[in-house]
Amino acid sequence: MKNVLISGGAGFIGSRLCEKLFERGYKVTILDNLSTQIHGDNDSSLLEKIKDKCIFIKGDVRNKSDWIKAIKNQDFIIHLAAETGTGQSMYDISNYTEVNVLGTAKMLEALSETRSKVKKIILASSRAVYGEGKYMCLKKERFLFPLQRSEKDLKNAQFEIKDNNSLLKYVATDENSELQPLSIYAINKLQQEQMVLFMGRTLGIQVVCLRYQNVYGPGQSLSNPYTGILSVFSTRILNNNNIDIYEDGLQTRDFVYIDDVVEATTLAIKKNIICNEIINIGSGTSTTVKDVANILKKYFQSNIKISISGKYRVGDIRHNFADITKAKEILNFSPKFNFQEGVINFVQWVKNQNIMRDNYDNSVNELKEKGLLK
Ligand SMILES: NC(=O)c1ccc[n+]([C@@H]2O[C@H](COP(=O)([O-])OP(=O)(O)OC[C@H]3O[C@@H](n4cnc5c(N)ncnc54)[C@H](O)[C@@H]3O)[C@@H](O)[C@H]2O)c1
Repeated sequence: MKNVLISGGAGFIGSRLCEKLFERGYKVTILDNLSTQIHGDNDSSLLEKIKDKCIFIKGDVRNKSDWIKAIKNQDFIIHLAAETGTGQSMYDISNYTEVNVLGTAKMLEALSETRSKVKKIILASSRAVYGEGKYMCLKKERFLFPLQRSEKDLKNAQFEIKDNNSLLKYVATDENSELQPLSIYAINKLQQEQMVLFMGRTLGIQVVCLRYQNVYGPGQSLSNPYTGILSVFSTRILNNNNIDIYEDGLQTRDFVYIDDVVEATTLAIKKNIICNEIINIGSGTSTTVKDVANILKKYFQSNIKISISGKYRVGDIRHNFADITKAKEILNFSPKFNFQEGVINFVQWVKNQNIMRDNYDNSVNELKEKGLLK
């Protein structure tokens, strides 16, 4: 039996991963501080579901002593614990950097100070490290990696990315694309990758960084207004609140279903991977934000109004979807759920949950106060 530690294992991805690894015969330990933003003030329903399937250590990734306790006898670490809201990271900077970067530093110190037998670390990274990602200039037939959109263009509702007035086409972003993190969260994720890859080599531990796209599905926090657009929109719909979509609603994301992400992560543990690797995990397709809102409205049979506001958030990207060729080649990973199927499962799950208080307006006001929503 192999031992695996999941930091942040009581969260959305971690709890599902725990169930899967338990079913496959792994002995799972979880290190998680049950952050109230994710789990609320009372007992965590996610933890309740998995508590018989793991050893649970309530601890904080910022405490080296918690890591030392947790890594004892582990073969693998899946490092998921993080603060994850892109917008929130732009003003809660020291907290984000402490949990995401310092927390990773503490893990690495604990590994280097103890005689751990950890063979492999899987790090949950993010597509956020790419920023806008890869585009093609149709006129000159070359690839480009555009910088952040200008304030002037956004103000004039010029949301699509152009290069010297010629339109660019967004294409699948592969792992060799230029990196342009556009938020503190994205910078944190890139630093995590670099630290773990570097120290993995030094400590003789194999490292696989998985750059997840937008993960959705059952288990996603319905009360956290800072991240996860499907759950944010669902909570608004169930509270009978209208949805105000930023820009023109035609911005796209790559939505990847939770079970596909769990499968890819399990493969990264199981497969004998020769080198340290960075691998995109996504669906490989893109969906507009407007379509997401309309599909949810339809499946919840709601009468709320969906409006397109033209407002924009500093740091938001326009489009991004993953090139998953490398995940196919190295992990033998192919997503099994298309967006329609995944959303049906998600909506069915939401309908069986308590309706959460809609805290979205508070998060929007925070962004406005900090000058991050225009
Ligand atoms: N969900 C996505 O769409 C997505 C996309 C890209 C990357 N990721 C990455 O995947 C990982 C997991 O994401 P998730 O969606 O499951 O997030 P989540 O918020 O549901 O889970 C994170 C878990 O970490 C725990 N945690 C937070 N701070 C901690 C601390 N200081 N000490 C110990 N535990 C702490 C929380 O209590 C929570 O259980 C994160 O690293 C995130 O950056 C997620």
